[in-house]
Amino acid sequence: MNLNFVAPCMFGVEGLLATELKRMGCKNVSAENGRVKFDGDENTLAKANVFSRLSERILINLKEFKALTFDSLFDEVKKIPFENFISKNDAFPVVGYSINSSLHSVPNCQKIIKKAIVERLKEAYKISWFKEDAAKVLIRFSIIKDSVCIMIDTSGEALHKRGYRAHSSIAPIKETLAAAMCELARIFPDTILYDPFCGSGTILIEAALMAMKKAPGLNRKFLSENFGFLNKNAFKNARAEALDLIEKNISFKAFGYDISDECIALTKENAKKAGVENLIEVKKQDVKDLKLPEDRLKVITNPPYGERLLDIKKAEELYKIEGKVMPELKGYGYFIISPHDEFESFFGREATKKRKLYNGMLKCSLYMYF
Ligand SMILES: C[S@@+](CC[C@H](N)C(=O)[O-])C[C@H]1O[C@@H](n2cnc3c(N)ncnc32)[C@H](O)[C@@H]1O
Repeated sequence: MNLNFVAPCMFGVEGLLATELKRMGCKNVSAENGRVKFDGDENTLAKANVFSRLSERILINLKEFKALTFDSLFDEVKKIPFENFISKNDAFPVVGYSINSSLHSVPNCQKIIKKAIVERLKEAYKISWFKEDAAKVLIRFSIIKDSVCIMIDTSGEALHKRGYRAHSSIAPIKETLAAAMCELARIFPDTILYDPFCGSGTILIEAALMAMKKAPGLNRKFLSENFGFLNKNAFKNARAEALDLIEKNISFKAFGYDISDECIALTKENAKKAGVENLIEVKKQDVKDLKLPEDRLKVITNPPYGERLLDIKKAEELYKIEGKVMPELKGYGYFIISPHDEFESFFGREATKKRKLYNGMLKCSLYMYF
C-alpha cells in the first residue's frame, strides 16, 4: 500500500529529520516548518516509528484541502476512503487544532469531521451504529490558515517517550531535542562524552543509544500495531532489523555530573532502563571542579536556564565558569544549548557555529565550539 506520511518535529530540527528519514529509505522526503513529509509503505511506517530519534510522531497523511465553511469540511472529509483504514468495529476518535483559520472552533470541527467519517462508513459497511470497541484508529486534523490536513496517528504516545524515563519532579530536556543535539555533535561508537549538568541523563542516554546504533523505539509499543489494515509482519521485521544493527562492543564512554543527588540517582535509573548503564559513569560534582582529558572529547550539555532553575544572574555566573573549565583542547567539541542571547560573551569565546533550536516554546541556540 502506497502511503503519504507527515512527521511533526520540533522547530529547527526539520533538516536533520529529513536526513534521518532519507537514510531510512523513505521516498520523496520534503521538510516544511515543524514537519517533514515523505512517501512509503507499511514497512516504512513501522521502520519510521521504531527508528526515528527526531520525529514526534508518524502520521498517515490522508488528505489536504482548503476549507472555509463547515459544509466544505464535511464534504471533503466524506470523500476520504476511511473504510480502507477503519474496520467495522474500530474506535475512531478525532482530535486536532486550528490556527489562524475561519473554522476556529476546535470542538465544532471535531464534531463535523467525526460526522463525515460516520456517514462515509455507514455507506461503506451498510450499518447505522458503530460499536467502536476494537482497535483505536486515532484521527488527527490540523487547520492552519484555512488549510486542512486529515491524518491517522500511527504512533500513539509521542515518539520522544522511549520508555526509559523514571517519574521525577525535575524538568528534563525532551529526548528528541537531546537526540538532535547529539546528531549535530556527531556521535560515533568511540566518542568520549561529558555532560557536566546531566540532570536525569537524557543527553548521555540518547548519545549512548546512538553510539551503539540501538533504535529508540525498540522497547515500546505503537498504536498502529493493532491496526487491522496493516501487515502484522511490518513491526516484527522492523524490530528484527533494529536488533540486528545493535553494536555491543564499542569503546564509547559517557561521563555525567550534576550537583544534585536526586539527579545522579535518576540518571543511573534511566540509564539502566535504557540498557546503557555500562556505557555511562555518573557522580555528584559541581561544574567548577570539571576536569576534561587533554584530547579527543565532546561536551554536550544543557546548563540551567535563568527562567526555570536558577535566576538569570546565577545562570550567567555558571556560563563564565563553563568558559574556564572548557578550554580549547586537542580534538575537542563543545555543544551547549542556551536561550541567552549573550551566552558567548559570558562563556568568553565566540562559537564556531550556532544553530537555532527550540526547547518547547523557548527559542534557544546550540553554541558549537570545535
Ligand atoms: C536544565 S537541567 C539539565 C537537564 C538534563 N539535560 C535532563 O535532561 O534531565 C540543569 C542541571 O544542572 C544542575 N546544576 C545546577 N548547578 C550546577 C552546578 N554548579 N554544577 C553542576 N550541576 C549543576 C541542576 O541540578 C540540573 O539538574
